[in-house]
Amino acid sequence: MLDQSIQELESGSLARIASAGSLEELEAVRVQVLGRKGALDQFFKQMGKLAPEERARAGKLLNGAKQALEAALESGKRQFAEASLRARLDREWVDLTLPAPGPRRGHLHPITHIQRELEEVFLSLGFAVLDGPEVETEYRNFDALNIPADHPARDAQDTFWLANGDLLRTHTSPVQVRGMERLGPPLRMIAPGRVFRNESVDASHEHTFYQIEGMMVDRGVSVAHLLYFMKIMLAEVFRREVSVRLRPGFFPFVEPGFELDIQCLLCNGSGCAVCKQSGWVEQLGCGLVHPNVLRMSGIDPEEWSGFAFGLGLTRLVMMRYGIDDVRHLQGGDLRFLEQF
Ligand code: DAH
Repeated sequence: MLDQSIQELESGSLARIASAGSLEELEAVRVQVLGRKGALDQFFKQMGKLAPEERARAGKLLNGAKQALEAALESGKRQFAEASLRARLDREWVDLTLPAPGPRRGHLHPITHIQRELEEVFLSLGFAVLDGPEVETEYRNFDALNIPADHPARDAQDTFWLANGDLLRTHTSPVQVRGMERLGPPLRMIAPGRVFRNESVDASHEHTFYQIEGMMVDRGVSVAHLLYFMKIMLAEVFRREVSVRLRPGFFPFVEPGFELDIQCLLCNGSGCAVCKQSGWVEQLGCGLVHPNVLRMSGIDPEEWSGFAFGLGLTRLVMMRYGIDDVRHLQGGDLRFLEQF
């Protein structure tokens, strides 16, 4: 009787173990059969009531069943563990022979790009590329450019002053002064760089932007030379021949001074929204270097003359690529920059 019950429990439990679909099911069998107060335990408790020779046989049977079930549970658990490891390895598979992705490649900022292009052109024309400090003296930013302290032209360039009386340069023109002081005539130089004005920022104004300055001082330099170099520069930037015109413009450091316009590249002069129907777009300031400016930097205006020009690199970039908001350029948004 008892023998048979034990054998049935054993074979039934082995069958459940064999067909278990998860670790949880195996655990349930273990608790029900092998656990404290489990089915086997009930049998062990009944053994006390048996006659000694029956007790020995039943004990053997029970121990045998216990061992068989424990072994079956153990191997069932191992199978589930191996299966889940295999599944994980399949999921997390990595091909170690693939080449590493490496760092993402960037490229030059469009302003740097135009700056370098212009440097190339002017270098090929015999101009030196000069650098100057962004923190300038009041003298080189203003006085040496014929803009004395009480001159209203100072108001046009709202300046960041530093506590010691220096300032953040409001234009690249002070590098002219440095060029004249250091190199003297004859002189051909350009000076690209960052400039600062205390402006409130909007779509067309930045407190920090880029300009390029140029100057040539030699014997007999005239407006014809100025126009020649300006047309070469603009043709390079816009990658085509451009028509230009000069209008009178006031800059204290040149006399005569001009605003140079280019014929609108979009409508070829017939009038459109970009040129406000005028056919022309204002491009840069320029002129013949004022004798006072030459004199202050130790150059004799009786012997030498020169032209100078200055323009916004930031604006050139915006025109060339049709960018309608200056804030994109220094916003640091890669989605914008990756387009160039
Ligand atoms: N410095 C002027 C500005 O920032 C631009 C300029 C005008 C520069 C005429 C020149 C020049 O060299 O001749 O508005």
